[in-house]
Amino acid sequence: MHLNALTTLLTERHSCRAFLARPVPREQIEQIVASATRVPSWCNAQPWQVVITSGTETDQFRDALQNEVETSAPAPDLPFPSGYSGVYKDRRRTCGWALYKALGIEKGDRTASARQMLENYALFGAPHCAIISSPAELGPYGAMDCGGFVTAFALAAQALGVASIPQAAVVAYGPFLHRYFAISDDHLILCAISFGYPDKDHPANSFRTERAPPDDVIDWRG
Ligand SMILES: Cc1cc2nc3c(=O)[nH]c(=O)nc-3n(C[C@H](O)[C@H](O)[C@H](O)COP(=O)(O)O)c2cc1C
Repeated sequence: MHLNALTTLLTERHSCRAFLARPVPREQIEQIVASATRVPSWCNAQPWQVVITSGTETDQFRDALQNEVETSAPAPDLPFPSGYSGVYKDRRRTCGWALYKALGIEKGDRTASARQMLENYALFGAPHCAIISSPAELGPYGAMDCGGFVTAFALAAQALGVASIPQAAVVAYGPFLHRYFAISDDHLILCAISFGYPDKDHPANSFRTERAPPDDVIDWRG
C-alpha cells in the first residue's frame, strides 16, 4: 500500500524544464520543506539551510544570475565532477539527447543546445527557487544529507502537484550566490531547486529518463 504510493510519486516526478508563472502558496512550500526535513542525517544534524525566493525576488534573482553568467566564470563551492566515463558518459549523453530531441534540436547544433543550457539561468521560468547550503565543517556528509533532502523535497512537491528540478548549473556561481543571498562563507552552496507548477504542454517536459534495472545495481552476496 505505502510502497505503491511512494512508487507512484517516484515515477511521476521528473525534472521539469518549463514552468507556469503561477506561484505556489506559502503554506504548501512550508509543507514541502517540513516533509523533506524528515530524511535521515548523520547525528540528526539536519544540515540543510534553504533560501527560497518568491514573486519579484525570483525575477530579480533570475535577472542577476543571467547577468552574472554573462560576465563571470563558474566557481562552484563544491567541485563539479572531474569527468563522466563509460556508462556514466552514456547516460549523460542519452538524457541530453532526449531533451534536445524533445525540443527539435539537432545533434551538433551547438548554438541551439547552448541556448537551451542558458534556460538553467532563467530558472526554466519557475516562480520559485530554493538554494540549498550546508555547513562546510560537515563536509561531504553534510552534502550527502542534503542530497536526501533534495530528493524528499522533490517528492513532497510532486505529492502536491508541484514540479521541480535540482540544478547544479545555478550553484556554479558560488561567490555570486554567497554575496547575493548573504550566505556565509562557512556554508557550502550545494544545489538549487527551481519549482512551481509544470507547463505540461511544453516539449521540454515531454520526455522521461530511463533507469538501469536492479540487476545492474546490486552485487548480491549470499
Ligand atoms: C544534484 C543534481 C543537479 C542537477 N543539475 C541540473 C542542472 O543544472 N540542469 C538540468 O537541466 N538538470 C539538472 N539535474 C537534473 C538531472 O539531469 C536529472 O535528474 C536526470 O537527468 C534524471 O532525470 P529526471 O530527474 O527527470 O528523472 C540535476 C540533478 C541533480 C540530482
